[in-house]
Amino acid sequence: MIIGVPKEIKNNENRVAATPSGVAELTKRGHTVYVQSTAGVGSGFSDEDYVTAGASILPTIEETYAIAEMIMKVKEPIEPEYKLIKEDQLLFTYFHFASYEPLTKAMIENKSVCLAYETVEKADRSLPLLVPMSEVAGRMATQKGANYLEKPLGGMGKLLGGVPGVLPANVLVLGGGIVGTQAAKMAAGLGANVTIMDISLNRLRELDDIMPANVNTMMSNGYNIKAMIKDSDLIIGAVLIPGAKAPHLITRDMLKDMKPGTVLVDVAVDQGGCIETCKPTTHAEPTFVIDDVLHYCVANMPGAVPYTSTLALTNATLPYAIDLANKGWEKACKESKELAMGLNVIKGDVVYEAVAEAFDLPYVPVEKYLD
Ligand SMILES: NC(=O)c1ccc[n+]([C@@H]2O[C@H](COP(=O)([O-])OP(=O)(O)OC[C@H]3O[C@@H](n4cnc5c(N)ncnc54)[C@H](O)[C@@H]3O)[C@@H](O)[C@H]2O)c1
Repeated sequence: MIIGVPKEIKNNENRVAATPSGVAELTKRGHTVYVQSTAGVGSGFSDEDYVTAGASILPTIEETYAIAEMIMKVKEPIEPEYKLIKEDQLLFTYFHFASYEPLTKAMIENKSVCLAYETVEKADRSLPLLVPMSEVAGRMATQKGANYLEKPLGGMGKLLGGVPGVLPANVLVLGGGIVGTQAAKMAAGLGANVTIMDISLNRLRELDDIMPANVNTMMSNGYNIKAMIKDSDLIIGAVLIPGAKAPHLITRDMLKDMKPGTVLVDVAVDQGGCIETCKPTTHAEPTFVIDDVLHYCVANMPGAVPYTSTLALTNATLPYAIDLANKGWEKACKESKELAMGLNVIKGDVVYEAVAEAFDLPYVPVEKYLD
């Protein structure tokens, strides 16, 4: 198969959909890979690295789209790319269709085949191509929180791990899923006194078994949260109710119960945030202060570490990309239910029910193409 890897053109997006090692895996299986010039530079990969791995470099995005049967990307196509996409071309990338109607309409019109990273789903309902970014964001949440606890950055001036003779900081993690687990692990590693809250008792049991002794678990409810925030130095929001807005576990009037200089990192900000006073911020202006409480609410945290994020993402996407390249999307999706779950739009038909519902479009069951 002929595969194209364009350079991401969305503002501040430095990730790339294939690494040189990924290219080597594809080319050794007989596939031809074209990488747009400088596509990997933001993640630390030069054109020469890709050539050494077996790719050919194309100077422009137009040529990259024009030659490829499958386009591998990171972010959803943006407006200037719409017209470059060809009928029957397979696009393997994040789309998040339900959040943007013009994108959905454009992909229907161009009759491409859109396989979305975010809806590839395993039998246990986990989303293997979203997990890596949650892992990055979770680990970063603690790193950022520790940083912002420093006085010159607006925090209360406390070292997360303390020192001999001085108590460490108290870290409260709301939600013990992927983000929360990684955040807690990092905070525990730095020596903080960590509490993870979740509404799932089973999840708390698992965490209790695997976490070190400086991590405690606690049932998440209004009463417990109110009691814990008074003594917390860093609070990390990491809850998710799939398909719904995040619940406001910390409301505005609760800020007055916190110590001045407390740091809130609301990772769930992309789902509306689990802290009422959070609103999305950017890496350029990541924080703001309300009632002496510092808020960090960057909506695309992994964007700050494109090297790590690119490797983490491509580690997860590459096996699927190889499958698609080896078999073509129809055979690959017939044989793999989890890959088939990623199909959202096929040749003008919306085959993912939630996307059709979001914009009141006709829904065509994916079986039309896979039977
Ligand atoms: N800001 C970013 O850059 C960024 C990056 C990646 C992920 N995220 C977001 O982080 C959030 C968490 O993602 P995840 O992958 O960890 O999800 P997850 O599904 O793995 O974990 C969510 C956890 O929240 C728990 N939960 C639900 N309601 C709760 C409540 N009332 N109190 C306590 N816990 C509750 C669930 O039981 C679950 O264990 C999502 O909103 C995700 O979109 C943001």
